[in-house]
Amino acid sequence: MADTYDLILKGGTVVNHDGEGSRDLGVRAGRFAAIGDLSRASAGEVVDCRGLHLLPGVIDTQVHFREPGLTHKEDLETGSLSAVMGGVTAVFEMPNTDPLTIGAAALADKVKRGHHRMHCDFAFFVGGTADNTKDLAELERLPGCAGIKVFMGSSTGSLLVADDAGLRAILKVIRRRASFHAEDEPRLTERKNLCIEGDPRSHPVWRDEIAALKATQRLVRTAHETGARVHVLHVSAVQEMEFLRDHKDVASVETTPHHLTLEAPDCYERLGTRALMNPPVRDAVHRAGIWRGLIDGVVDVLGSDHAPHTLAEKAKTYPASPSGMTGVQTLVPIMLDHVNVGRLSLMRFVDLTSAGPARLFGIAAKGRIAVGYDADLTVVDLKRRETIANAQIASRAGWTPYDGVTVTGWPVGTVIRGQRVMWEGSLTAAARGERVRFLETLAS
Ligand code: DOR
Repeated sequence: MADTYDLILKGGTVVNHDGEGSRDLGVRAGRFAAIGDLSRASAGEVVDCRGLHLLPGVIDTQVHFREPGLTHKEDLETGSLSAVMGGVTAVFEMPNTDPLTIGAAALADKVKRGHHRMHCDFAFFVGGTADNTKDLAELERLPGCAGIKVFMGSSTGSLLVADDAGLRAILKVIRRRASFHAEDEPRLTERKNLCIEGDPRSHPVWRDEIAALKATQRLVRTAHETGARVHVLHVSAVQEMEFLRDHKDVASVETTPHHLTLEAPDCYERLGTRALMNPPVRDAVHRAGIWRGLIDGVVDVLGSDHAPHTLAEKAKTYPASPSGMTGVQTLVPIMLDHVNVGRLSLMRFVDLTSAGPARLFGIAAKGRIAVGYDADLTVVDLKRRETIANAQIASRAGWTPYDGVTVTGWPVGTVIRGQRVMWEGSLTAAARGERVRFLETLAS
């Protein structure tokens, strides 16, 4: 008797740990059940994927979805809608909400709010502070926790651990890999007077590459002292990347599509305050250095750092305008465009967006197309040319720095645990997001 599946994705090119080739995928009970020639099998639903590439589901390990407290910018529903419209199957969300996600109740509240209300799967970071340090070892083990996030330099919100003693205390108590916003707070304070009112081009002058390098050096030194693993978020400077390549024993590295795509001064001249991010987008030398780190394998993952603010907020005169731009929906198309012009291979993209996150964070049963794994897929048309427009952006913020940019390569489908959630730009299922599970805390 022929095998039967819930879903068969037929005739697509599967890109995976074992290379790239034409294969059918059979899904049963939300997991991959067969990979190969399924021409004799039957299924409840068969989807013709000829001409499309099937990638392991893209996991965006850095987004800010603003709920609770800042939901005029975004909420878990709109942020995750933006994610699945862009081919993203799971997100790790940041703790600078209001109230801050710094305790068990706030984390449990987010998990409850996300369950079957978010469109993609999810986990949440807990913010590390001087006050909750003693509780972090317990907090990082709670269900739905992606780990601890520490702001070493102040950005949006009030989370901050500026001193080495505070950092060391945190690294001593935790066991999982923690994530860091590495900008040196004393240097940011000292240089704040270099901001020129009304001129966002002065943003990377104020928050310079030395601020990033100094914080990253302090972090790595403290990681060596304490034997901790650290994840350096949004690496933005060539010096930081060159330093990190010598410290891969303790440090993993994230960079972002905007640090790979935009450059100063052009982005500030074209986009004004919309180009503001912390750490900032810097000049062509830094951008080239980040690409080198990506090609050499120093970079482990890509995160969008989706950080929505309303256009009214962004329209304030610099430096009163907040830093942050949307990104979860444009990560896949922007990076596929880089693939199409030959800056990275499709396999390296997969490594950075699914295998990489799974390896660093120890995600249970996600991150590759293999029998037994969650059937999460990002389905892309590599040849499709599209112009990105604000009107496509499902985020409540409703804008993108790439408005008007034409790319080649487009996400046409999002499959999460065997359910087609987005197809050809339309939402095709009710919200069924669930928490991601981690190998180090499976019992939680
Ligand atoms: O530019 C940024 N915006 N960087 C951050 O670290 C925080 C983020 C936000 O939450 O707005």
